[in-house]
Amino acid sequence: MYTQLQLRGSSRPPVTLATLDKMRAEGEAIAALTCYDASFAVLLDEADVDLVLVGDSLGMVIQGHDTTVPVTMDHMVYHTRAVARGLYRPFLVADLPFMSYSSPEQALANSVRLMQEGGARMVKLESGSEQLRIVEFLAGHDIAVCAHLGLKPQSVHKTGGFRVQGRQKDAAERIQREALDLESAGADILLLECIPNELGKAVTDAVSVPVIGIGAGPGASGQIQVLYDILDITSGRKPKFVRNFMQGCDSPLAAVKAYVGAVKSREYPGPEHCFS
Ligand code: KIV
Repeated sequence: MYTQLQLRGSSRPPVTLATLDKMRAEGEAIAALTCYDASFAVLLDEADVDLVLVGDSLGMVIQGHDTTVPVTMDHMVYHTRAVARGLYRPFLVADLPFMSYSSPEQALANSVRLMQEGGARMVKLESGSEQLRIVEFLAGHDIAVCAHLGLKPQSVHKTGGFRVQGRQKDAAERIQREALDLESAGADILLLECIPNELGKAVTDAVSVPVIGIGAGPGASGQIQVLYDILDITSGRKPKFVRNFMQGCDSPLAAVKAYVGAVKSREYPGPEHCFS
């Protein structure tokens, strides 16, 4: 059976989980970016981005908050729906925002909203051992899940800020253990944020699902960045892992293409973007 999109006859078939698995297995780096609206979605599609995340980072880059905590399910559904309208090829993932997955039933109901109302193909949740039963429950209902480990922005008020995670031996071991447990619970993709290179590589080597990194070194199966960071729209101090791709480019489309090229050739991230 063909999907409506395939029936439109594009020579670039939509990216599926199977495509991402194949890319991982064959060593082709996955190029991912966040996106929050239809106009940028069209541009990311044209630039051949593989995976697009409607991240709850929209609370900071779109809404002007200091953290992602104020973002609600209604905000996520609104932006996911807008992005879905602009996308054809990339795999669309949407974040479950703060406190929208505190029980398996709540996580399921909100994932269904992101998929049915928003058009997402996968949901992402900030995960650790406490979320294992939630990931298992969603996977048991055939919902594709991305588990986000390392720096978890929804927990900043508890953890005390946006800091590199997993530098101490016990913290690194916990992240590695959680990654394996989340994979066993049914997570289809892992996202690692702000951890040392070696830990990013160790987790990637230990699991059999694609691992997308942001500030997790070059050893991951793919890279993701906040779109406004790589286009140099974000003001103020930027995280170490950010590279301004507008430099040397005359348009946002050229910059996103440069990002995709640099991820695919593994020229990005360089040593200056990594943590030890
Ligand atoms: O919300 C977001 O944009 C994210 C990225 C940091 C990957 O989770």
